[in-house]
Amino acid sequence: MIKQKSIDSVMAAVRIEEVVGDFVSLRKQGQDYVGICPFHDDKNPSMHVSPRLGIYKCFVCDAAGNPVKFLMEHEKMSYPEAIEYLAKKYGIPLEYERTESDEERQQRTLRESLMIVNEFAQKYFMEQLRNTEEGKLMGMAYLKERGFMDATIDKFGLGYCPDGWDNFTKAALEKGYKEEYLIELGLTGKSQSGKLYDIYRGRVIFPIHNDAGKVIGFGGRILKKDGKDPRKYVNSRENTIYHKSDTLYGIYFAKNAIHKQQNVYLVEGYTDVISMHESGVENVVASSGTSLTQGQIRMITKRTQNITVLYDGDMAGIKASMRGIDMLLEQGLKIRVCLLPDGEDPDSFAKKHRDSELQDYLAAESKDFLLFKADILSKEAGNDPIKRASMVNEILKSISCVKDNIERAFYVKECAKLFDLSENDLNLNLRRFVWEKTKEQSRIAQQQQQQIQQQGGVTVPMDGTQLEVPDIIETKKHPDLSQQTDLLYEAEKDLVLLVLNYGNYLIYKIGQEEEQSEELRVDQYVCNEMMKEDIRFHYPLLEKIFNKYADWASYIGNQDQIIRNFTLSDDPQISEFVIRNIPVEEPKFSERWRDKYDIHTHTTRNNLRILQNQVQNILLTLKLRILENNAATIQKVLEDENLSEEDMALALQQMNQINQLKRIISQRLNRVVSR
Ligand code: CTP
Ligand code: MN
Repeated sequence: MIKQKSIDSVMAAVRIEEVVGDFVSLRKQGQDYVGICPFHDDKNPSMHVSPRLGIYKCFVCDAAGNPVKFLMEHEKMSYPEAIEYLAKKYGIPLEYERTESDEERQQRTLRESLMIVNEFAQKYFMEQLRNTEEGKLMGMAYLKERGFMDATIDKFGLGYCPDGWDNFTKAALEKGYKEEYLIELGLTGKSQSGKLYDIYRGRVIFPIHNDAGKVIGFGGRILKKDGKDPRKYVNSRENTIYHKSDTLYGIYFAKNAIHKQQNVYLVEGYTDVISMHESGVENVVASSGTSLTQGQIRMITKRTQNITVLYDGDMAGIKASMRGIDMLLEQGLKIRVCLLPDGEDPDSFAKKHRDSELQDYLAAESKDFLLFKADILSKEAGNDPIKRASMVNEILKSISCVKDNIERAFYVKECAKLFDLSENDLNLNLRRFVWEKTKEQSRIAQQQQQQIQQQGGVTVPMDGTQLEVPDIIETKKHPDLSQQTDLLYEAEKDLVLLVLNYGNYLIYKIGQEEEQSEELRVDQYVCNEMMKEDIRFHYPLLEKIFNKYADWASYIGNQDQIIRNFTLSDDPQISEFVIRNIPVEEPKFSERWRDKYDIHTHTTRNNLRILQNQVQNILLTLKLRILENNAATIQKVLEDENLSEEDMALALQQMNQINQLKRIISQRLNRVVSR
């Protein structure tokens, strides 16, 4: 258990834009940042990140939270993992309640345990490579022969698994790591006779990191050429923490460079990535063979829109991969391709061309994908008019994947030249493809919208109460709730949001006499009124937030700081409520209230009066809702057939009083609103 004190220091240091910015490419917009939301299939930047509030919020898919939640949702970290990650990022030492025993360690979630086993395995393999005779003689010698430098071997955490039967498995079991975890991770196999053996025996090890830098899997390359084991590489199979389709080899080591260069090179495998790093190109990832999956594309698009595919000179391979690239165009990515000289793969080429030489080549030889494709097809078609026509359509289909009109026009122009056709003719066919695409896309968009709606709205769990009354959408699932209760919740919520948003604004309270008039903070005024009239909250969560606010406001001068305290609260109900309901933009009272209460504002002076009215309005509405609630309760009492006459009289009397008060308040409310 991490000590609360340590968690507080981490929370004080953490900056939301830096945490989200490590995974999502952010662009400054006013005080805030925007980026492609990684939680849904986002095309436009719908994710807003507010340094002022310490939160992120997606305006399309409803994802929202503080830095810890971001890591938990995006990186699938547990709460302590997220805190540890942030502590490391900000160089804050963590104190623990007490150190974990081996036993407790295994009690943790399966994911965490598996990560820990992988971490052990990676350290073990590295140790074997560096500090054992066999490791040095076999593994290290091989890596050196391939030309890998010590620093690179360290950086990528390469290792070696000894060529015995079960050296690694024995060592792991001795350390107390569970057999079932070793098997789940694909590190250990079990023979039919029940004997455990090392899957990676006699192989050089390439650890695979997720984009937070945790080892989630391994690739192992064979060294012996005795042909007993025909597999050149053994790769982790799918398991709880390793999903091939959501993994890009090298992403952790590339992400900063991708961000900076706003481009990523796509290569085939481990050795390509590593060799390119050695030659000074760090924005490189490997898809491990097959064409990119949606998950992998998302890992890229959230960092950059530009991708350069590196090809070796093999024409058949190039043509095979072209269809996959159309998919990337559809995602709005800008694709370039770079053809390597015949017989070279990125690994071999990077070896021969160090540093600026490699970079210069990539810069000079990278070509726009569509023009590259058009060029290849045009050459292939030769002079055969029928072939040329079908090739043109093939290209036009690719062009129709491009989102931007102006870009499309550019491609049409270039293709017209290449194929010696009129732009008009090309445009005619292109329009047809675009039209078909648009139809398809709007169908998909509609489906997604429906899915989001079906998933339902936000739930604000109420704490410890019998009632579960949350947001408006949620109440539809509880048709038995009386309307009054919803309205009461709304009124209390409005009051809490009023002090959160505008507590530090000054209003002018007019007294009976001139000298009784005073300038007051909104939050002070609200607190005074609540006390004077003995108004209490019905919803414990809202009450908790209100009381905490009153507490903090008494000694924290900065309103934004108070809100950040809420968004970072370790009570998830509190942080969730505030994050959901606080507007990401700076509070402006004209906008929301105009919609809500039909008030029109034009000048700032006007705004102040509106704020003043609004405070009245919210307080009066709350009182009205409380009265309505009481009335409903009394109504229930009156419906009781066994009610004594005495009680009946009392209830009716109370009902009368309530109705009178309701009338007065309604009148005053009308005046406030219409003034
Ligand atoms: N690869 C793989 N599985 C295979 C073959 C290749 O995962 N069966 C991937 C690896 O990531 C490797 C990359 O493809 O880094 C390049 O393949 P290849 O050149 O065949 O592997 P090398 O280890 O570079 O072998 P060689 O020394 O023969 O070039
Ligand atoms: Mn190779």
